[in-house]
Amino acid sequence: MLGADLVAALAARGEPATALDRAALDVTDASATADAVAAARPGVVINCAAWTAVDDAEVAEDRAMAVNADGPANLATACAAAGSRLVHVSTDYVFAGDSAQPYAEDDVPAPRTAYGRTKLAGERAVLDRLPETGYVVRTAWLYGAHGPNFVRTMIRLEGQRPAVDVVDDQHGQPTWTADVAGRIIALAETGARPGIYHATSAGQTTWCGLAREVFSLLGAEPSRVRPVPASAMPRPAPRPSYSVLGHGGWAPAGLAPIGDWRAALHRAFPSVLAAQRAAEQPTTAPN
Ligand SMILES: NC(=O)c1ccc[n+]([C@@H]2O[C@H](COP(=O)([O-])OP(=O)(O)OC[C@H]3O[C@@H](n4cnc5c(N)ncnc54)[C@H](OP(=O)(O)O)[C@@H]3O)[C@@H](O)[C@H]2O)c1
Repeated sequence: MLGADLVAALAARGEPATALDRAALDVTDASATADAVAAARPGVVINCAAWTAVDDAEVAEDRAMAVNADGPANLATACAAAGSRLVHVSTDYVFAGDSAQPYAEDDVPAPRTAYGRTKLAGERAVLDRLPETGYVVRTAWLYGAHGPNFVRTMIRLEGQRPAVDVVDDQHGQPTWTADVAGRIIALAETGARPGIYHATSAGQTTWCGLAREVFSLLGAEPSRVRPVPASAMPRPAPRPSYSVLGHGGWAPAGLAPIGDWRAALHRAFPSVLAAQRAAEQPTTAPN
């Protein structure tokens, strides 16, 4: 999801980029990763690859660890050898998610899920290996045109159900993948100091608040989204009740953080809606 928007943003800027999906490069393969980076000798490598199935990671932590920790370690080693900078994408799940104020970039991580532990290991692998040229960009609550996500699910459910129950006691920052792509490119272009940056929208809401905004954008009655507590929808991996990230790292780098989540959703909505409607079209079998 993020990788597709990043590639599109780079193309729109005329930046030459080599985009590799899993079939082209498995980042858990250290030697293939070294060869790919050595062959391209890029100025910057951006790692959007990840094991993102949060619940599945609870029963397959070793496999998630291979992608989310060994993968970035392999990339960091390859970047160190090639002289490339590395931007690695991480998550709010590295934090405990029980705070009452936004998590700062240097707050102490305390992941409560297997996914969070694997992502934290990935962060450390990058920052340990590339203290001068490694970047960790934490994001959260992503949506975009590519791939399944909460906003697209709400668009689909609005057309299918008279009412939808959505969790209203988990707080976060809905964030458009295109906005994250823009911040990653800005970091890469400006040569900002290495370290951790938080690329989430400003403001905050709940999943219910986000769903109601989606219904409103569809011209549907927002009260068709009914608030429920997270305890009514238990998941294998506990979801953070408070996933709000602070953005203090951007100003010293001379860069602006991402703006308000609602304004971003309004900008993103036409493309996300079009992608969802296209996905809902029945496919025609080839002759
Ligand atoms: N989505 C969110 O709400 C969210 C929130 C916070 C942070 N993040 C982080 O943001 C980044 C991008 O997330 P996303 O939502 O765009 O993820 P995504 O849509 O699930 O994309 C992840 C990609 O990684 C690929 N991949 C998996 N294993 C790989 C391997 N061994 N080698 C190479 N590629 C591999 C996947 O390929 P296949 O499709 O072939 O499996 C997929 O294309 C990730 O680091 C994620 O942890 C996401």
